[in-house]
Amino acid sequence: MVNVISRANIVNDLYKILAEQRSCLVDLIWEQHSFHEKRRWSAVEMIDAIDLENLTEFDRVNIWNAGRAELTTKPGADRLARVADAECRRWQESNPALASVMQACSTWSRYWNEEESFHESTLNRLSNLLGLETVNDRVLIEFRKIFPDDDMLRTLVLLAISEITATVNYSYCASVAQDPGLKKLFKQIAADEAQHMTYFISFAKALVDSQEYSPKGAFAVTHLFVREGGELYGSKRQHLEQRDSHVNWWDALEYKITIPDNIERKQGMIFSALRQITGIEVNSAAEVEQKWLELVGC
Ligand SMILES: [Fe+2]
Ligand SMILES: [Fe+2]
Repeated sequence: MVNVISRANIVNDLYKILAEQRSCLVDLIWEQHSFHEKRRWSAVEMIDAIDLENLTEFDRVNIWNAGRAELTTKPGADRLARVADAECRRWQESNPALASVMQACSTWSRYWNEEESFHESTLNRLSNLLGLETVNDRVLIEFRKIFPDDDMLRTLVLLAISEITATVNYSYCASVAQDPGLKKLFKQIAADEAQHMTYFISFAKALVDSQEYSPKGAFAVTHLFVREGGELYGSKRQHLEQRDSHVNWWDALEYKITIPDNIERKQGMIFSALRQITGIEVNSAAEVEQKWLELVGC
């Protein structure tokens, strides 16, 4: 039988659909595949449409920073595929619907990985064509370090927030670009990042809906980002953690020319994501902290 469940329902109700056996993994994976295919674009054509002579110094800095930041997405997607598959096997006996959610997530990571590879390759190729500092092999290998494993809900919320930050930043780069080709590229990447955000929200919501994961994990990670001086402030924070384990792309941006934080817009989107994932409404960083403390029983 052909699956007739709408994409919107899959996004909003993934756990329920699987728990009620209204859809199976093959149907969900087809939905992921066809949506991915529909949204594909050509990196070669996108680069050809940009007039390199027409770009400002600001455009050039934005391209260079974004190209480096995108290098960290491959290890993120590689890790997600591995961890979600391991989680799938962990839940297979006790909660088969949740195991299927994990497998849907692990499988989708291949589309995510491929879409991020378009961002990385396009932006770094543009950097080279513009004669900007090339990413050397040492830096590339450093940026490929894999983020340490964490609880799955925390991981998905962190990734949703990362995609929100990327969406807002790319939208800003698109808004200031004057060259139509570059504007189109930044808009396209922003649209991809927004879709990734939607997927992460959907998977995170499914974990909370399964009742196997407490919303407190989602609030803990959000607090880490939205608190005063938190991760959302990226490389402008006064105290960046020194770590050898991996590179956070938001820490690695080099603001030779400042792009606006757009903290309010990012926070608004994060609060909306948190509401969709947990069903709990918050409207400020202080409310996130308060709710988080409540959930951990302080
Ligand atoms: Fe990206
Ligand atoms: Fe993304």
